[in-house]
Amino acid sequence: MNPTPVRKAVIPAAGFGTRFLPTAKSIPKEMLPIIDTPTIQHVVEEAVESGITDILMVIGKSKRAIEEHFYPNLDLEAELREKGKTDELEKIQAISKLANIHYIWQQELNGLGDAVSYARNFVGNEPFALLLGDTLLGIPGECKPVTGQLIEIYKQYGQNVVALEPVAEDKVSRYGIAGGNWVSEGSAVLKVDTLIEKPYPNEAPSNLAIASRYIFRPEIFEYLERTPRGKNNEIQLTDAMVAMLEDHSMYGLQLAEKRYDIGNKLDFLKTNIEFALRREDVGPGLREYIKEIASQC
Ligand code: G1P
Repeated sequence: MNPTPVRKAVIPAAGFGTRFLPTAKSIPKEMLPIIDTPTIQHVVEEAVESGITDILMVIGKSKRAIEEHFYPNLDLEAELREKGKTDELEKIQAISKLANIHYIWQQELNGLGDAVSYARNFVGNEPFALLLGDTLLGIPGECKPVTGQLIEIYKQYGQNVVALEPVAEDKVSRYGIAGGNWVSEGSAVLKVDTLIEKPYPNEAPSNLAIASRYIFRPEIFEYLERTPRGKNNEIQLTDAMVAMLEDHSMYGLQLAEKRYDIGNKLDFLKTNIEFALRREDVGPGLREYIKEIASQC
């Protein structure tokens, strides 16, 4: 099997981020830092490490900081050069060279399915990766990028692929849940035969939740076009995937990596602490501080 290579990625980042108000009033939630690096930079780096060269970000009002972040800042570069801060200079320059990044505005926030449909012209007739802009999978640099793992499965089958994470049964109603059969005993690859967006626990086909990364064949746009509003009166990507399942196969990879959901306050804090504890610059000091305050609070 030698399917068309996956070179393009779509990153939806238009949502208001209401869980992070008042900050998210003017600062995109995707720009919230993991210590010193915006979450969306990690997401872009994951795409690039997976072989992606062209990215479309679906943005909206109050999201200009994302564009600015990936655009060169020549004044800052000059300042860093003059001060001899070569490490910082290299880091800053690398950001704007990561990939060809394009932007489009989602005119109204009508759901994830609607956001993805804005990518139709950008994607054309190629397969593409979809990465949700507020979620990290695994510690960057310490594991094989999940998008790259999905692309490997796509190369094998030439079909749609989603990342899956087992979640506790009382959490299934927060996610799109997949049902199906493992391709072989002991395999982490599921041949998906059903999907339900945010099911009640008694209707969930499994506890395997769609985990923010997908590889789609371009036909997904035909199904999105026909998808009526679903849960929360939004155009749900999962509903278009259900329709697509009638004509195209889909595989799911059960992830070994941990999911870090930055769009949720507690997980955002936990992620910052976990990532910081692994860093040489701030890790040791933070570890001491946590021990100290944990015994006081
Ligand atoms: C979206 C998808 C859902 C998926 C989740 C996490 O939901 O609709 O199927 O499980 O992302 O990737 P949201 O978190 O936007 O409500």
